[in-house]
Amino acid sequence: FFSGGGPKPLSGKTVLVTAGPTIEKIDPVRFLSNRSSGKMGFALAEEAANMGANVLLVTSVDNLTPPAETEIIKAESAEEMYHAVMGRYKEADIIIKSAAVADYTPVRVFDKKMKKQPGNLTLELKRTKDILKELGERPDKPFLVGFAAETDNLENYARDKMERKRADIIVANDVSREGAGFAGDTNIVTIFKRDGSKRELPLLSKHEAAREILREICREIEKGEK
Ligand code: CTP
Ligand code: CA
Repeated sequence: FFSGGGPKPLSGKTVLVTAGPTIEKIDPVRFLSNRSSGKMGFALAEEAANMGANVLLVTSVDNLTPPAETEIIKAESAEEMYHAVMGRYKEADIIIKSAAVADYTPVRVFDKKMKKQPGNLTLELKRTKDILKELGERPDKPFLVGFAAETDNLENYARDKMERKRADIIVANDVSREGAGFAGDTNIVTIFKRDGSKRELPLLSKHEAAREILREICREIEKGEK
């Protein structure tokens, strides 16, 4: 099928996408992570490239086919992702933070495999840096898109994140709904914007959802340029 000819809406723009879970090491054989698959972020990267963007994809995921025409920047932990994004954000016109970044990481990483002991084990965790929040505080910040995966109170949490992180758009999904989970190929998202409006999308493939999200981003950027 054909892609529509015409000028591509993102040509000349650089889009940085973060995708998938982070991996926080406990010892050489164990880690803390989450159920994010990276599929939504990979779909966003591929569709952004199809729309003409130069794409940087920061991710820990290595079991998905990397989209053609994208530069993959490997980052496993929240700390590595922070440095990867902060090292490249100045190149980006748009940053889409679809990665599920760990909020906590072990205070200490054991360099040898931990051996079990009698009784309970307490792992001490410390807070990670909030990458999106820090980007939002930069005077030269690009257009910022955050994600919010929630199980309840979707709108309140999404709007709170938009304020706290100074994001231009928050894409929220209720991961407890059928068809909106992490691992599947579909998603049900609501796009929240700074003007207080929202757009609820139906059940879509992650690629269709990605195209809708990118179109919404293009619309907002055009509005801002007028
Ligand atoms: N995010 C980030 N760095 C972190 C945590 C989150 O950049 N250390 C980004 C995510 O990539 C996402 C957005 O912030 O785009 C919202 O993430 P989320 O986990 O939903 O928000 P939190 O502020 O961590 O709130 P909570 O987990 O308590 O709901
Ligand atoms: Ca979080």
